[in-house]
Amino acid sequence: MSNPLMSKKLPAVYKMQNGKLLNKLEFIDYFENKVFKTIKKFNLFDLNDKFVVAVSGGKDSITVLYLAQKYLKRKNLHKNLIALAINEGIEDYREHTLEFLKEFCAKLDVELHIESYKEKYNKTLDSSIKILRDKKTNISPCNICGTFRRTALNTGARKLGATKVITGHNLDDEGQSILLNMMKNNYKVLPRLGPSNGVVGDEMFIPRVKPLYLCTEKEVRLYTIIKGFDVGYDECPYSKDSFRSNLADTLNILEDKHPGIKSSLINFYLTIQPTLREQYVKEEGTLVTHCTKCGEPSQRKVCNTCEMRAIIDGENSNGENSDENNANQ
Ligand code: FES
Ligand code: ZN
Repeated sequence: MSNPLMSKKLPAVYKMQNGKLLNKLEFIDYFENKVFKTIKKFNLFDLNDKFVVAVSGGKDSITVLYLAQKYLKRKNLHKNLIALAINEGIEDYREHTLEFLKEFCAKLDVELHIESYKEKYNKTLDSSIKILRDKKTNISPCNICGTFRRTALNTGARKLGATKVITGHNLDDEGQSILLNMMKNNYKVLPRLGPSNGVVGDEMFIPRVKPLYLCTEKEVRLYTIIKGFDVGYDECPYSKDSFRSNLADTLNILEDKHPGIKSSLINFYLTIQPTLREQYVKEEGTLVTHCTKCGEPSQRKVCNTCEMRAIIDGENSNGENSDENNANQ
């Protein structure tokens, strides 16, 4: 019997769900096609769009930046793409990834903009976390970071004239978000997940799209290794004990024992998403409110970002409303 590993000149690097083995060239083809098909299938890109890619310097954002540019290059639209990084102010971590990003973007010839929490919110993430820990609130670092990040990305992208924000969220991230919001009973967040965010439109909110939506974290990692992207694989120092990372570990264990469950979870979500969105519109309507403090789109009178800033700055002491809305990635 012929050994599939020997029958190819290049060794196999990846085994597909159906058992087929791929060498590195075949894997690159498979992976890139999957991303490009995702863009088409979910209509993520409009040819008139101006794109901002949210980049952190990690494997997902680097991959999505590279492939979005490759996709747009074929249509000669690659100049409509800019990268935007957020410097949260995490000592001994973010400065390294930003250095890498600057080099990577320069090589790709993509313009890179950087927004910082310090400039936008007057405080770094490190100092905000310290304040909240001293106050003994139950707000987690990821909760603050995610909330601030979404606002900074939206306002930053708007400033740059973007009509779409491309993010590097992969299938694993999405699976975690689905479960996380179910377990926290954030039923209003669930309809807003998916390959393109949002249920109702607002001109101040720049829609976010996820071309890596159907790619597992493993696949993205392998792609960056094969492509030789010199990505640091270090994680954010605050991520270790987060609820999300516990869920990630659990899903990985389950996937090892029952291959395919992550994809099933995503497919299940995609099946029920239209119903969830319909229900959301029925209950909430299509009118988008704006935060009375900062004017940004918000589900409540005062947005999560303003509320959290008030707690950090000592204007408010509870944080009861600081729920897991930020689980909306
Ligand atoms: Fe960095 Fe949560 S704050 S992963
Ligand atoms: Zn606000």
